[in-house]
Amino acid sequence: MSDTQITRPLFDQLMVPNYAPLNMIPVRGEGSRVWDQEENEYLDLTGGIAVNALGHAHPELVNALTEQAQKLWHVSNIYTNEPALQLAQKLVDHTFAEKVFFANSGAEANEAALKLARRFAQDNYSKDKTEIIAFYQGFHGRTFFTVTAGGQKSYSDGFGPKPADITHIEYNDFSALEAAVSDKTCAVILEPLQGEGGVLPICKKFAIAVRALCNKHNALMIFDEVQTGMGRTGNLFAYMGLDITPDIVTSAKALGAGFPISAMLTTTKLASCLTVGTHGTTFGGNPLACAVASKAFDLINTPEMLDGVKQKEVLFRELLAEINEQFSIFEEVRGAGLLLGAVLNEQYKDRAKDFFLASADQGLLVLVAGANVIRFAPALNITDAEIKQAMAKFKTAVQQVVES
Ligand SMILES: Cc1ncc(COP(=O)(O)O)c(C=O)c1O
Repeated sequence: MSDTQITRPLFDQLMVPNYAPLNMIPVRGEGSRVWDQEENEYLDLTGGIAVNALGHAHPELVNALTEQAQKLWHVSNIYTNEPALQLAQKLVDHTFAEKVFFANSGAEANEAALKLARRFAQDNYSKDKTEIIAFYQGFHGRTFFTVTAGGQKSYSDGFGPKPADITHIEYNDFSALEAAVSDKTCAVILEPLQGEGGVLPICKKFAIAVRALCNKHNALMIFDEVQTGMGRTGNLFAYMGLDITPDIVTSAKALGAGFPISAMLTTTKLASCLTVGTHGTTFGGNPLACAVASKAFDLINTPEMLDGVKQKEVLFRELLAEINEQFSIFEEVRGAGLLLGAVLNEQYKDRAKDFFLASADQGLLVLVAGANVIRFAPALNITDAEIKQAMAKFKTAVQQVVES
């Protein structure tokens, strides 16, 4: 087996066919650059889908991981461990949260949040207070509860009976919100910026309205910051720029800057309903993950890094506007910080994949968000020179598609 040639066709032979990866296989990365098996170099504007906030192989993260690897890998939740408590302390010191639950993925953090909301309502109000309000185009993960809360039926259909009592409404629609939330509602779950759903930012007044209605009806406001958290929008968490405090915030992706870890952040009062034995996960709070995340937290949570995100957003927008002046392909560029979406206009409608493939041909890795949006989510420490180089490649890719 050691002689097996590792090629892209092997994927189709061995793997469950739920993904369709590109033909090139990345083998190495450094900062915002990645190399494939043939030593071709790519500029990475995907950040592993908003995960690699500090780029690839950041030396301080490599150190944190290798130091911890020589000490303690895993102990289970029969014990606590030092890196987990160090990371929890940082999260509590720098957010609204008083309590932290660690898990392994965004879906798992959201699953914990939804379960907490149901349990809190049942313990404190009524067994019938079970309704969860969620949003069309929202995305919260792929466990059955979270994918059902997500706003695309096509992702949750076909798996039998779904978790009940989840109502979907339009994002940023005030009257739909007011009509939907009632005393039966135990939680409203939403993203501060719908990432997978098309890089659609929340209207600040809408976030404030959600908060007010949740207060009125004793419902919890769950902010899914799996994609927006840890500096992505230029704030440590996006809620910090919206003049509201949620009851629960979930974080994953950039929390471990590439090492799998997630967290649910909440208050002491709410956390108290998850008593011993009510919830858990084997790898949650794993020392390796927490040691890396703790170092990543220190590196991301600085004024230089967070202000830098806002400055780089301006540069990105300028360069995208220049490309658009020449080729007229976007209707708008939306998003916040280093989570930006270029929305294709009528002429190029639903052709995001063509731009994605043409970019890869130019040695540039970008993302899509649905069929009509090209998404950029680079490392937060990408340099201005790299952004300029990336946009030059993108311009060539755009030209290729326009002239094809
Ligand atoms: C907002 C949001 N929530 C939840 C998830 C699910 O995270 P994971 O894939 O780590 O379960 C994602 C993933 O893209 C996301 O963007």
